[in-house]
Amino acid sequence: MSFINSVLNWVVPPASLVMLACSWPALCFINTCEWLYKSFFIEDMEDKVVIITGASSGIGEQIAYEYAKRKAILVLIARREHRLRGVSEKARYIGAKRVLIMAADVVKEDDCRRFVNETINYFGRVDHLVNSASLGHTFYFEEVGDTSVFPHFLDINFWGNVYPTYVALPYLRQSNGRVVVNAAVESWLPLPRMSLYAAAKAALVSFYESLRFEVNGEVGITIASHGWIGSEMSRGQFMLEDGAEMQWKEEREVNGTGGPVEDYAKMIVSGACRGHQYVKYPSWYDIFLLYRMFAPGILNWALRMLLAPNGSRSRTSLVGTRRPALI
Ligand SMILES: NC(=O)c1ccc[n+]([C@@H]2O[C@H](COP(=O)([O-])OP(=O)(O)OC[C@H]3O[C@@H](n4cnc5c(N)ncnc54)[C@H](OP(=O)(O)O)[C@@H]3O)[C@@H](O)[C@H]2O)c1
Repeated sequence: MSFINSVLNWVVPPASLVMLACSWPALCFINTCEWLYKSFFIEDMEDKVVIITGASSGIGEQIAYEYAKRKAILVLIARREHRLRGVSEKARYIGAKRVLIMAADVVKEDDCRRFVNETINYFGRVDHLVNSASLGHTFYFEEVGDTSVFPHFLDINFWGNVYPTYVALPYLRQSNGRVVVNAAVESWLPLPRMSLYAAAKAALVSFYESLRFEVNGEVGITIASHGWIGSEMSRGQFMLEDGAEMQWKEEREVNGTGGPVEDYAKMIVSGACRGHQYVKYPSWYDIFLLYRMFAPGILNWALRMLLAPNGSRSRTSLVGTRRPALI
């Protein structure tokens, strides 16, 4: 048995690569036809009900404006109600038919049940659930002094997607609706200072890819993955139970630069309305998957060269990783 596997280990990968290369033009043709076909059947979102978590800033906020342009009915969820009020006004101005805002914590199942039930009470249906609540970080794992921060990354980035999905799924089945998930390229491309965030996003992608089989086409799932996008996330914001806003000190020093959030939000909503399973930005990152499979050494070496010039790494401020500093 081990002899057979040894032979297959040598034969299958190169044979598959050659087959893939030969079938590449045909695959591109099929993908283009599928793209064209889906372009003719774009979901009309007018009067459809869209719940967006993490709508008070960044990508979630911009996604709300994109659905507003399509005249959808919006239910905006985040913990900072004052921010949601501003987003709601702008969304209404842009074209949203109606907007409901609710302060809720997506990590709490009861809160998720409350906002989904309220949505059903008000509007009688849910068509899209967009999960955009998240918490990012940029510290080295071994520099963390206070391990009590660990669970927050899994809670918000993983369970904060699972609970709303669990509660909304029966209604999404009724409407043949869609779940839109914000993953990140870090779920499979290893980057330093993002270990907990990356682990949560990898779990998220596995969860939704499995769920896609379970819902069997009755509910669509669009997984959006992207690289660095300029938004609040890059500033390491974190909110405590009592509502106080916190930031990791050194993360305030990281500039919030990256791809344009508006363009990316437009891509996500357009992909979701076309029924795409994946939205990737930038899509050329996919090539790293091949390296990861067949030449992980080269990928590791290249990332080290790119991310840690001279083989050294700048030390992260410990202030931020022991306990967040109150602002
Ligand atoms: N920005 C990037 O470069 C980038 C790259 C790859 C992937 N992504 C992904 O894209 C998505 C959006 O990121 P972003 O950059 O827009 O982040 P962001 O600006 O920090 O927004 C995060 C949102 O999540 C909400 N939130 C956080 N914890 C919550 C909780 N417990 N309950 C309810 N809402 C909560 C925040 O609102 P409140 O604080 O008011 O609750 C905020 O509206 C995330 O899934 C992120 O992982 C972003």
